[in-house]
Amino acid sequence: MYDARYTIRSHTSAQLDIEAVGEAVTLAGWVARRRDHGGLIFIDLRDRAGLTQCVFDPEDSGGAAFALAEAVRPEWVVSLTGTVRPRPDDALNPDLATGAIEVLVSELTVLNRAKTPPFEIEDGIETAEDVRMKWRYLDIRRPEVERALELRSAVTHAFRSALAERGFLEIETPMLTKSTPEGARDYVVPSRLAPGKFYALPQSPQLFKQLLMVGGIERYYQIARCFRDEDLRADRQPEFTQVDIEMSFITQDDIMALAEDVLTEVMAAAGVPAESFRTPLDRLTWHEAMDRFGSDRPDLRFGLELIDVSEVVAGCDFKVFADVVATGGVVKCINVKEGGRALSRSRIDAVGKIAEGAGAKGMAWIVFGERGEVRSPIAKFLGDEVIARLREAAGVVDGDLLVFGAGPRDATNEVLGVVRLALADEMGIERTGFCPLWVVDFPQFVHDADTGGWTANHHPFTRPFDADIDKLETDPGAVLSYSYDFVLNGLEVGGGTLRVHDADLQRRVLAVIGHDAAAAQEQFGFLLDALGFGAPPHGGIALGLDRLVMILAGATSIREVIAFPKTSSGFDPMTDAPSELSARQLADVHLRLS
Ligand code: AMO
Ligand code: AMP
Repeated sequence: MYDARYTIRSHTSAQLDIEAVGEAVTLAGWVARRRDHGGLIFIDLRDRAGLTQCVFDPEDSGGAAFALAEAVRPEWVVSLTGTVRPRPDDALNPDLATGAIEVLVSELTVLNRAKTPPFEIEDGIETAEDVRMKWRYLDIRRPEVERALELRSAVTHAFRSALAERGFLEIETPMLTKSTPEGARDYVVPSRLAPGKFYALPQSPQLFKQLLMVGGIERYYQIARCFRDEDLRADRQPEFTQVDIEMSFITQDDIMALAEDVLTEVMAAAGVPAESFRTPLDRLTWHEAMDRFGSDRPDLRFGLELIDVSEVVAGCDFKVFADVVATGGVVKCINVKEGGRALSRSRIDAVGKIAEGAGAKGMAWIVFGERGEVRSPIAKFLGDEVIARLREAAGVVDGDLLVFGAGPRDATNEVLGVVRLALADEMGIERTGFCPLWVVDFPQFVHDADTGGWTANHHPFTRPFDADIDKLETDPGAVLSYSYDFVLNGLEVGGGTLRVHDADLQRRVLAVIGHDAAAAQEQFGFLLDALGFGAPPHGGIALGLDRLVMILAGATSIREVIAFPKTSSGFDPMTDAPSELSARQLADVHLRLS
């Protein structure tokens, strides 16, 4: 509990209410606001807990305190002593915990002065983010930032207690380590003692947590800092935090049940009503998610599902569609209910541009008008009969809009997944509440366009479906994996897999992604060795703490829930990191700049 214990205060600035009238109190904090008012001076005193209105009256407060109160400025640090009294009726503030009272001050001490801050220390400011980040410690004084950090702390604490209660050991793994491939570039640290050699900062504790399972720990967790050198976005930082979990002697369902139970406790601690997070959560297979929503992290807070109309348009006179179907591709559409009424031609074209940006050759569309009339760039090719069948297949009523994607299945699903989100924005569809789900059964490998080979979809330690193991060499693209992502409101908040616990199978999986036996031994010898010493069947999950807290805080960027984040270009405007090294420092680690 945050209270006045162990401080020079008698109360915090959220504790005083009408019950306290008549008490002598001592408060301390920052001057949020100072107002001169017909011979009285008012100071709103702010601490982490809240605000208290403090009054100085030349007669009751004494000349010294009053004179000092005239001198103080915003953000000065003060302590004061006085007596609680009720506010006059016309000065009550029901929005404030202390809004029924004020403190008539008898003594004021200035503990420190402050320069004028570069922005207002209050909620809802529109200051540019880089300015807030340069003075992040002032930004953190703002109640909304404090609240986000409080929420983050509560969520972290709830994870720890839920996991500790279930017998998980909290174990730290190295920060200076060897690269673990999680799909991003490594941050590297040069070694002074081993010239020309480098540590990598961990992209995740993946291999160490597996080694802990070989070590017999059975249940591990860590609030783990991870480092990935990748392009940054609103939901990506170069360093971020995972709630990292691993268990032995489990099935996939066991891990998902554990994660659901832990998340239930975390949601409750974050104040989410129980009915907003009911378990067991819904599950979609990766294939279903892609086919119906065009995304492996579908936002289920709205509909706009993808509808396959390949059969309807097969052999039609619109050559683009007919050719795609004839060559094994798909034609799919989205029925935008009321979209024909709501969206102008230029808004539809804007969505079409987004489709093209996502790789589509075009985005055909049909508007079904009020009196059965049809507007569309492709109506004349499709003909009345095909249009009538499309109408039926997509459940169209007058006023609806159909938009189309045509091409190879995976690419078309992905394009329409992007289009689906753009349409929700264009239509102003409200997205509130929580829609959690599991996406399961991901393909083990994805095609790597750069090399023409295969790469791991999750990571190379993921276990393929038992039934698909014989396809590893012959048809890698068809191999599914024991894998599960926790998706919340269109964001991937967690991901996990069962692991390969057999050294030979691990070698085969590594071979598919291009590591021959020698390369596998060179890079992952320690893991392959360990798997040969009685590794138990094991698996786990990592939940992105920053993303989860962002969603719970209703924020739009994880930067809002990280105390000292980097900007979107990976820079810290406050400390000026990254920065140059001296010639001496470079020489120490045997580096010369090119
Ligand atoms: P994965 O790579 O899916 O899995 O990461 C797990 C979760 O971490 C979060 N996350 C990030 N958050 C902020 N910024 C980033 N740059 C970032 N990258 C990832 C996401 C993601 O779901 N070792 C495996 C887990 C396992 O198999 O147990 C792993 O790291 O919320
Ligand atoms: P075109 O015959 O290329 O002029 O295209 C006619 C209409 O079909 C335009 O509205 C295009 O945007 C659309 N279109 C073209 N290719 C595709 C495709 N692969 N998927 C969906 N619509 C397409």
